Amino acid sequence: MLPGLLNLLWAISASAYVVQDGNKCELYPESLNNNGDAVDDSPSILQAFENCGQNGEVIFTNNTFYINSVLNTTNLVNCDVSVRGELQFSTDIDYWRDNVYSVVFQNQSTAWLFGGENVTFRSEEGGWINGNGQTWYTWAKGTSNIPGRPITITFFNSTNLWVDGLNITQPQFWATLVWQSYNVSLTNLYVNATSNDGSSVVNTDGYDSWQSDLLLVENADITNGDDCIAAKGNTSNLLVRNVTCHEGSNGITIGSIGQYPDTPDYVQNVTFDNVRCLGCLDGAFIKTWSGTPVTTDSNGDAGGGGTGLVKNVTYSNFYMENVGLPIQISQCIYAEANGSGCNTSTLQIEDVSWINITGTSQFNIAASMYCSDAAPCPGIKFDNVSIQSVNQTLGLPAYGTDQQDEVFQCANLIDQDSTGIPCNLVAPDNYGQIVSSNVQAQ
Ligand SMILES: *[C@@H]1O[C@H](CO)[C@@H](O)[C@H](O)[C@H]1NC(C)=O
Ligand SMILES: *[C@@H]1O[C@H](CO)[C@@H](O)[C@H](O)[C@H]1NC(C)=O
Ligand SMILES: *[C@@H]1O[C@H](CO)[C@@H](O)[C@H](O)[C@H]1NC(C)=O
Ligand SMILES: *[C@@H]1O[C@H](CO)[C@@H](O)[C@H](O)[C@H]1NC(C)=O
Ligand SMILES: *[C@@H]1O[C@H](CO)[C@@H](O)[C@H](O)[C@H]1NC(C)=O
Ligand SMILES: *[C@@H]1O[C@H](CO)[C@@H](O)[C@H](O)[C@H]1NC(C)=O
Ligand SMILES: *[C@@H]1O[C@H](CO)[C@@H](O)[C@H](O)[C@H]1NC(C)=O
Ligand SMILES: *[C@@H]1O[C@H](CO)[C@@H](O)[C@H](O)[C@H]1NC(C)=O
Ligand SMILES: *[C@@H]1O[C@H](CO)[C@@H](O)[C@H](O)[C@H]1NC(C)=O
Ligand SMILES: *[C@@H]1O[C@H](CO)[C@@H](O)[C@H](O)[C@H]1NC(C)=O
Ligand SMILES: *[C@@H]1O[C@H](CO)[C@@H](O)[C@H](O)[C@H]1NC(C)=O
Ligand SMILES: *[C@@H]1O[C@H](CO)[C@@H](O)[C@H](O)[C@H]1NC(C)=O
Repeated sequence: MLPGLLNLLWAISASAYVVQDGNKCELYPESLNNNGDAVDDSPSILQAFENCGQNGEVIFTNNTFYINSVLNTTNLVNCDVSVRGELQFSTDIDYWRDNVYSVVFQNQSTAWLFGGENVTFRSEEGGWINGNGQTWYTWAKGTSNIPGRPITITFFNSTNLWVDGLNITQPQFWATLVWQSYNVSLTNLYVNATSNDGSSVVNTDGYDSWQSDLLLVENADITNGDDCIAAKGNTSNLLVRNVTCHEGSNGITIGSIGQYPDTPDYVQNVTFDNVRCLGCLDGAFIKTWSGTPVTTDSNGDAGGGGTGLVKNVTYSNFYMENVGLPIQISQCIYAEANGSGCNTSTLQIEDVSWINITGTSQFNIAASMYCSDAAPCPGIKFDNVSIQSVNQTLGLPAYGTDQQDEVFQCANLIDQDSTGIPCNLVAPDNYGQIVSSNVQAQ
């Protein structure tokens, strides 16, 4: 836009760089009047939501907006938001760590709390969010769950929220979280957390839900280094369909749950359908903490002893390509670290089906189904699950093992013989979520 025209608009606007016409607020960045400097646009953004967040419209025009400070744009009502430019988060790690909003769960935090009732949030005309996560990836050096490393955007306390076309490139941490909400859809979601200096992109979950009901995720393409989609505690009636998770992703999961003894996790009525996992570390799985808590003094990465229920879950029509561990139930997900306690979880898992799961595994294992001794699983079903190790499909021998059949290892499945799972080994009690070698014959 020409500066002259901008000044004209500014002259008639209610406040700096919010051009208001009735209940429609158009946002322009401060940089346009500051020689292109990355002046913080958060105050104008808050102003626009203040003026037009109730029964109105907020439009980010096709410009680069600098988000240098936290955003709390909650309690919107009947509001349509359109993102047409780039929303770029600043990289002042000290600032963010001191100012982020808590999301309570796992002591995690967020840079933007967004929500309300009857709200749309659309990216249009190429609008996108640049988390500038490279700075965080390089800084974190692969350390998981550092306090104050923020989720890009958290959809909070919302009822009837439609988010369409969200494009988050290089999220700082998890790209999105839906928290304490009802009837929220994310459609045409694109997340790409790719590091350009070889640093780990751990914790860059694509979509997480917690304490929320009636959720949809449809048409998503996620490149990341952690859970592609994760339904966490008290997620119900979640439908996820048409999702592609790319190399390095941890795939589609329920969990981790059972982390906190004082808050039981219920996850019910969940369907994951039409998913492609291409080079993922895991595919379609459920992960709980063990029944005996490990240390509780560390952010995110400690816990256990939580109870609850996972019931009525379907994974259908998955195509796996070179996936580390295509299908799993683990009730001691951090067994790598704990090395024990897999038989203690009382979190009940039941009525879970894997239907039409095809493709290839990276190693000679298709499935590890370990339910806890303390809560064996009823109602586990496989129907048309057909996975071959990449090597077998290439006609090559699997390396370093004499177990040449594809492994389906099982433990504590009630009525194992009627599950449809071709169990051919006993699942060991120390199998973590990351597999790095072929399974040996017992
Ligand atoms: C966010 O703003 C709302 C007002 O819209 C306020 O009630 C709430 O306390 C704020 N949340 C935080 C975490 O500051
Ligand atoms: C939200 O939309 C629903 C359905 O149209 C309507 O019944 C409800 O009153 C709206 N809520 C508000 C706060 O306007
Ligand atoms: C948005 O702005 C960019 C950069 O100025 C331009 O290349 C692009 O065509 C614009 N998009 C639209 C839809 O106008
Ligand atoms: C959550 O939204 C409701 C309206 O639906 C509002 O009354 C309440 O104050 C909000 N809670 C918070 C913490 O913002
Ligand atoms: C997301 O935004 C990035 C940066 O503009 C762009 O390169 C990419 O094509 C976008 N992806 C989608 C699916 O729109
Ligand atoms: C993700 O981003 C990287 C780096 O920009 C790019 O090479 C890759 O093609 C992108 N992946 C997808 C699926 O868009
Ligand atoms: C599935 O999602 C992708 C985006 O990841 C989209 O391009 C494609 O059109 C969707 N397929 C259907 C049938 O909607
Ligand atoms: C199981 O969940 C699906 C949605 O994923 C729902 O349609 C179905 O009615 C549920 N079944 C039971 C028995 O609750
Ligand atoms: C699961 O779906 C069934 C059938 O729609 C419904 O009756 C039940 O209330 C749902 N359970 C939960 C926890 O929402
Ligand atoms: C929880 O987060 C806060 C703020 O980010 C941080 O100061 C604190 O050390 C964290 N607690 C733990 C146990 O990591
Ligand atoms: C499994 O695949 C078959 C054959 O393509 C199809 O008819 C059936 O509907 C699929 N099942 C589910 C639950 O999608
Ligand atoms: C697959 O076969 C190749 C060639 O023999 C070998 O280098 C590789 O280690 C094998 N991978 C596994 C997982 O066995």
